[in-house]
Formats: sequence, structure tokens, C-alpha cells
Amino acid sequence: MPQITYVLADGEERTVDVPEGQSVMDGSVRNNLPGIVAECGGGCSCATCHVHLPAAWADRFPEPSEDELELVEFLDGATAESRLSCQLVVTPESDGLRVVVVPSD
Ligand code: FES
Repeated sequence: MPQITYVLADGEERTVDVPEGQSVMDGSVRNNLPGIVAECGGGCSCATCHVHLPAAWADRFPEPSEDELELVEFLDGATAESRLSCQLVVTPESDGLRVVVVPSD
């Protein structure tokens, strides 16, 4: 099962197993990690699942949709690596991924 590492706001890193087909957001929420709130439950409408996805990993996931791009644009801490983690679906190629969680409060 793919392992994903979440870098939390305090610098702690937590590595968890995330089943294929779930999202990077699911992996955080189901393991009770802090920082990703996921108010809309993965509907790409709340933007409380903000992460920084390293550029080297970007091509392992689909390009962001127009909706995602519009939401991310106005987030605090937004960078070129910003993604909504509910839109990042885990595949075998996701194993070893390390994302930085950007708290939404
Ligand atoms: S969980 Fe709401 S936009 Fe990702």
C-alpha cells in the first residue's frame, strides 16, 4: 500500500499507509492528522485541504481543474506547489510522496 508522509505545521512528519483510490486528504483525515480540515468532504469547494506538492511529484497526478486553481489562488500560503489534497488520488506511483500540510485556520 502506498505510504505518504505529511509534514505538519509544527514540523513533525507522519508517514501513513493510504489505500489506492483514496485521496491524499483521506489519508490525513482517516489517520486523525491535524491541519487538513476537509470541510466539504472532498468536493473541491472548501479549500481546507491545502498542501504543497513538491514539483518533482506534480506529474504523477492529474493537472488541477479550473475550480481547484481558482480556489487555491486566494489561499494564504499559496505557492506554485499548492494543491487541494482531496483532488490528489493515490496510485501505486504515490508511494513515498511527502506533502507539506498548510493549515487552513
Ligand atoms: S476537502 Fe474541500 S476542497 Fe478539498
